[in-house]
Amino acid sequence: MVRVSLATLAVAASFYLCADAKPFFLKQTNILDQIEDAQRKNQLESDNVAITIPEQYFEKQLLDHSHDNCGEPTYWKQRYFSYDGSYGGPGSPVFLYINGENIARNTTVVSKGLFFTQLAKKYNAYVISLEHRFYGKSQPTSDMSTNNLKYLTADQALADIANFQDYFTQSRNLSSTTPWVAFSGSYPGMLAAWLKYLYPTRFAGSIASSAPINIKADFYEYMNIVHRGLHYFGGDECTNTLQEGLKQFHALVASDKPEDIATLNKLFNPCSPMKTDLDRMDIEANVMGAYQGFAQENDSADYGLKNVCADLIARDGLSPLEKVAKINALQFSPGSNCTGSDYQNDWVNSVSDITTDIVGINRQWTFQTCNEFGFGQTAAKSTGVFSELKYVTVDRVYYQMCKDVFGITDTDARIAEKKAKYHGLDINVENVVFPSGTIDPWSALAVDNSTHLANPKSKAVYIEGTSHCRDMYAAAATDSGPVVWAHQQIDAAVGGFLGK
Ligand SMILES: *[C@@H]1O[C@H](CO)[C@@H](O)[C@H](O)[C@H]1NC(C)=O
Ligand SMILES: *[C@@H]1O[C@H](CO)[C@@H](O)[C@H](O)[C@H]1NC(C)=O
Ligand SMILES: *[C@@H]1O[C@H](CO)[C@@H](O)[C@H](O)[C@H]1NC(C)=O
Ligand SMILES: *[C@@H]1O[C@H](CO)[C@@H](O)[C@H](O)[C@H]1NC(C)=O
Ligand SMILES: *[C@@H]1O[C@H](CO)[C@@H](O)[C@H](O)[C@H]1NC(C)=O
Repeated sequence: MVRVSLATLAVAASFYLCADAKPFFLKQTNILDQIEDAQRKNQLESDNVAITIPEQYFEKQLLDHSHDNCGEPTYWKQRYFSYDGSYGGPGSPVFLYINGENIARNTTVVSKGLFFTQLAKKYNAYVISLEHRFYGKSQPTSDMSTNNLKYLTADQALADIANFQDYFTQSRNLSSTTPWVAFSGSYPGMLAAWLKYLYPTRFAGSIASSAPINIKADFYEYMNIVHRGLHYFGGDECTNTLQEGLKQFHALVASDKPEDIATLNKLFNPCSPMKTDLDRMDIEANVMGAYQGFAQENDSADYGLKNVCADLIARDGLSPLEKVAKINALQFSPGSNCTGSDYQNDWVNSVSDITTDIVGINRQWTFQTCNEFGFGQTAAKSTGVFSELKYVTVDRVYYQMCKDVFGITDTDARIAEKKAKYHGLDINVENVVFPSGTIDPWSALAVDNSTHLANPKSKAVYIEGTSHCRDMYAAAATDSGPVVWAHQQIDAAVGGFLGK
């Protein structure tokens, strides 16, 4: 999915016109990108070159698991990658990496950058990476019309996994008693947990990293955690300066005085004049988006929460407003040096093309948020400094957008239905580990140390000072104490699932 680290944003953005600035509701992380960034930092990438992993397909995946029993079923080809180089033969486990809103990669099953492949070596596991329907080359329908996207649901994706498991077991002559363990993080981390809930006996256990299972529409808590992360690194001086800057920025956005418009143009360079409150939301959301990236990608980026606080606190003669403008400009590149301010273009047109997209993920993921999960990242109701961005409300970033893009107006009922099915944080599921980090914005909807887990056989692994999916990175000598601890917890749990 969308890469949101600043360095990559700059690179990616150069392929777009500035008006295509990334809508902030897509501020999700491609975990694999993030991990590869971290890998490059640790120079692990070059170790992977010796092995070639072929692309494989499960040819008879079902389009509709709920209705294909009557009449002739429709099949489609689901892509996967597998590696048996560490597999110990009968009695040894299968480790499944669940892909979500991303393109599956041939490198995942042999990656030196992932903790789960380290565990696969230790436990002699057969390793699989299965692509999610509607992403990459796993396309069940001829286009991505809203009507076809009705087959893009977590429930269908989970049934795909079960069906795939039967196919794989048969095609590799695996014993029916082979223990399977599922791994993933973020949205597919939710799938890892829900899989164990829906099919308790198919999987010995799951590791569900940074999994925001407590789905909701107005996800203002996200920005509370971004605030918390800034405060963690920069204290009051950092957050107070930012608050002052955001307050002045909002005042400029709200003003129609010529001198305010001139200041806004000079400091933030809106891509086009703002005509509506939706346009005003867009520019505020884009300025906010930079901080979402710093927080979510803190562990893999070169510039994170610590750096942004250092810039905010620096005695460089800039006013708080000018500092906010300077930090916003980090998102610019030579070909894309304005701040998105056209709602129709940035939020609606950018995800309205129904042509099958095997590279991008924006339309698919946006549909999933409107159809099932919510996750509208808002500021207005947050309690920290981002509450200054008063145009960034759930009505605009979520309800209006879902209506304008997909014609979906009953989002709340859809989210409620999903919540009733999987029970949010009250899920009663066995053998699931829920790692999460204290400065990960998504941790607000994930299991942490304050969650009372309904099932004593599942557990929280709440990690001090880490952001999104940090536990998924391979263990390295530079790991902090809490990360070392988290890896020990996960390793011990996997050993437990396998009776080792
Ligand atoms: C993955 O695919 C790329 C492009 O085809 C290729 O260069 C690379 O060697 C492959 N890596 C693995 C591990 O198969
Ligand atoms: C599975 O078993 C069948 C029948 O014994 C055999 O023909 C086939 O080659 C085996 N496949 C694998 C992948 O071991
Ligand atoms: C991310 O957080 C850690 C502390 O948990 C910190 O040491 C590191 O410098 C941060 N990364 C960036 C780029 O700020
Ligand atoms: C901004 O982008 C435009 C169009 O690509 C370019 O002509 C201009 O030089 C850029 N300005 C800056 C300050 O990068
Ligand atoms: C969560 O609880 C565990 C077990 O008591 C503890 O080791 C860990 O440090 C706690 N995490 C945080 C972030 O407080």
